[in-house]
Amino acid sequence: MLEITPVNNDFVAEIAGIDLCAPLTPATADGLRGALEKYAVLVIPGQPLDEARQLELAQIFGPLETSVGASIYNAKRPRRLDHAQLSDISNLDESGQLLEAGDIRRLINLSNQLWHTDSSFKKTPASASLLSAQEVTPVGGATEFADMRSAWDALDPALQSRIGELIAVHDYFYSRSLTGFDLAGIPSEWREIQPPVQQVLVRTHSHSNRRSLYLASHIRSIVGMSDDDSKDLLDHLMRLATQPQHVYRHRWRTGDLVIWDNRSTMHRGTTFDEKYRRSMRRATVQDIGPTVPH
Ligand SMILES: [Fe+2]
Repeated sequence: MLEITPVNNDFVAEIAGIDLCAPLTPATADGLRGALEKYAVLVIPGQPLDEARQLELAQIFGPLETSVGASIYNAKRPRRLDHAQLSDISNLDESGQLLEAGDIRRLINLSNQLWHTDSSFKKTPASASLLSAQEVTPVGGATEFADMRSAWDALDPALQSRIGELIAVHDYFYSRSLTGFDLAGIPSEWREIQPPVQQVLVRTHSHSNRRSLYLASHIRSIVGMSDDDSKDLLDHLMRLATQPQHVYRHRWRTGDLVIWDNRSTMHRGTTFDEKYRRSMRRATVQDIGPTVPH
């Protein structure tokens, strides 16, 4: 029996009373899907899932994505995780040792500390993400979530009508460039695998009809606007959407599973001392299709 306790209005709930390491019942799967429709972030402590259990659980929300790491920068070398559908959210190399200071994966990880929503740079973006914590840092390394439904609701109506139909260009490599990644040095085949894509700037949830801002640091520009005007508008929206009243901060404990809806939230990692090991893995569920017809 799922015990669902709201942590932050209708944004975050903590779930107890289930053992996700045991075979999942249809009632539990329905309960989790229902909870994620009502809330946008679910915190489920005490779930030491192995890779297979995590993948099985994620599939109750839909088909899974292949990790960008597995398909791009780690495509030709061994990975720490066995399954390409799991993203490696750690500071560890393939043999489980701390990444060296100059390792490209450290630089790539830094972009996780920018506000974003997972896989908005893919034509069909992500609906849900399931992040499971194996090793956590004693201090730092929290993840912050922003409620993009309440952020939309709080916008001035004139601004809502100005931006309601805009289309944004999301580019995986743009957000990497913001944390010091040298774009000129990117192999052309990486760009071909992950070209820029268009997404609506405002989404409407099919079950609740609530609207939400679909923002991310992956956004390079707004279609039909100059780069300067795009940047001004995006910076303004980002500032409004990440005010404290819209944000929940999660301090990780070993065994935590956090599930969130990427269509109605943004999130970002926060800094921690890289001398500590941090080991997490993420399963990512594909949405039902692109937000902009291509
Ligand atoms: Fe993320």
